[in-house]
Amino acid sequence: MVFESQHPLVKHKLTLLRNVMTEPKKFRELVRELAMLLCYEATADLGIEALTVDSPMGKAAGHTLTEKIGLIPILRAGLGMVEGIWEMMPSAEVWHIGLYRDEETLQPVSYYNKLPTIPTVQVCLVLDPMLATGGSAVATVDILKEWGAEKLKFVGILAAPEGIKALQTAHPDVPIYIAKIDLHLNDIGYIVPGLGDAGDRQFGTG
Ligand code: PRP
Ligand code: URA
Repeated sequence: MVFESQHPLVKHKLTLLRNVMTEPKKFRELVRELAMLLCYEATADLGIEALTVDSPMGKAAGHTLTEKIGLIPILRAGLGMVEGIWEMMPSAEVWHIGLYRDEETLQPVSYYNKLPTIPTVQVCLVLDPMLATGGSAVATVDILKEWGAEKLKFVGILAAPEGIKALQTAHPDVPIYIAKIDLHLNDIGYIVPGLGDAGDRQFGTG
């Protein structure tokens, strides 16, 4: 399943994000806000159970979340998607996965993984603004499934059709929530029209 947002706020903020004139401070703010808007969509089917609370005016029927949520940012660029989502779901656990793309082969290279031996969460939201070849997302889901994660969702900002195909082929059970599906990859694996290098633009390292 691929969900491409049609929300006007997402479209507006994505346009600002793409703009080459957008400075890192504003870029980080937009990544944070887009992540929150997309997470709202991606979490619409979270488990809840009925609960009664005492309001100052009497008893009220309500609900509480039943599933433990894990936020899994792919370093580096996924980091900027964590904070806003975490504010909405403060009991979520954050588990970092470090991967970078080898510039020659475009294959993901793993450099950080401190997952405990047994899964501690029931729902994993994999966070990375860019789904380009899909190599990093596929490798991350491979790692999480090997860990024992069963319910996973990918939340990103831009995707190339090539990346969507790769993730859906390797992991058809993982829904993809994205702000926009772009046109294609260029010959060095960048999304076109894209936004450039999401890590460099957030961290001012470009
Ligand atoms: C970027 C991006 C994804 C990956 C996407 O990370 O944040 O993780 O590329 O490309 P793929 O779909 O072809 O794997 P990068 O490797 O540039 O590392 P960085 O976030 O540390 O800059
Ligand atoms: N990683 C990025 O940061 N940007 C792209 O366009 C592709 C991969």
